[in-house]
Amino acid sequence: MAFLISILKEIAELMLRKFRIIKAGNKPEVHVESQALKKEGLYVRPDFLSKEECEGFREAIDFHIDGGGGNVWVDEAGADQRVYFINDIDEKFQNFYETSYFRDVLAACTGTTSPSGMLLAARINCKDNNKGSGGGWHRDSPVTHQFKAICYLNDVEEENGPFQFVKRSQRKWEVIKCYVRGVFKPGQYRFTDEEIDRYLLETGSEISSVIGKAGSLVFADTKGVHRGKPLSGGVRYVLFCYFWHGDIPPHFQKLRQ
Ligand SMILES: [Fe+2]
Repeated sequence: MAFLISILKEIAELMLRKFRIIKAGNKPEVHVESQALKKEGLYVRPDFLSKEECEGFREAIDFHIDGGGGNVWVDEAGADQRVYFINDIDEKFQNFYETSYFRDVLAACTGTTSPSGMLLAARINCKDNNKGSGGGWHRDSPVTHQFKAICYLNDVEEENGPFQFVKRSQRKWEVIKCYVRGVFKPGQYRFTDEEIDRYLLETGSEISSVIGKAGSLVFADTKGVHRGKPLSGGVRYVLFCYFWHGDIPPHFQKLRQ
């Protein structure tokens, strides 16, 4: 029964999203980006921000986390420190969040033209038992395709927590196949390392680690399986643009500034 409900949800999501995309109109200027997101679930653009811009953002994040008096979220390990809704308290971040390029890709992929949302600024350090950004392998939604714009503000290597993504894991047929084969349970959106190992083995998929210089922009359909890799050293500064079609979900309200 749970399997059938998941299939029906996938079909309903497809129809609703296609309707919205048609209504939003053609976006030929972001065709490459939207096609990559549709096929692979991932698109990377180097040098979106300059080194100087990244440095400015890093200094501002340090200020907001270490002494700005804002609402700072910290994970259990004390590694991941986040300022949600940083765009509400700092114009520099608001300008980044309003980048029309992101909105065009969002509209082309999801059909959402007037999103609600916010910008999250995060600094994650290497601490014992850190789980990486996002708390391990997950989908942001088990059904709805999501669009997230992520920007690295310092150089990100294998050791300091790259964004990791399983390409094509966002595709509906891939999701359904996993339910049929019993790799994942219908509706499941958090995964253990063992479940991911089995998934990779069953599907022949691979983990893509997004290694990139400061200023690299990453677009992802975060319905796909992803995480921030646990850090074995160093620090990572990053910005995440969140978008929703409707209202901001209630559990984000307490994270407001
Ligand atoms: Fe996520």
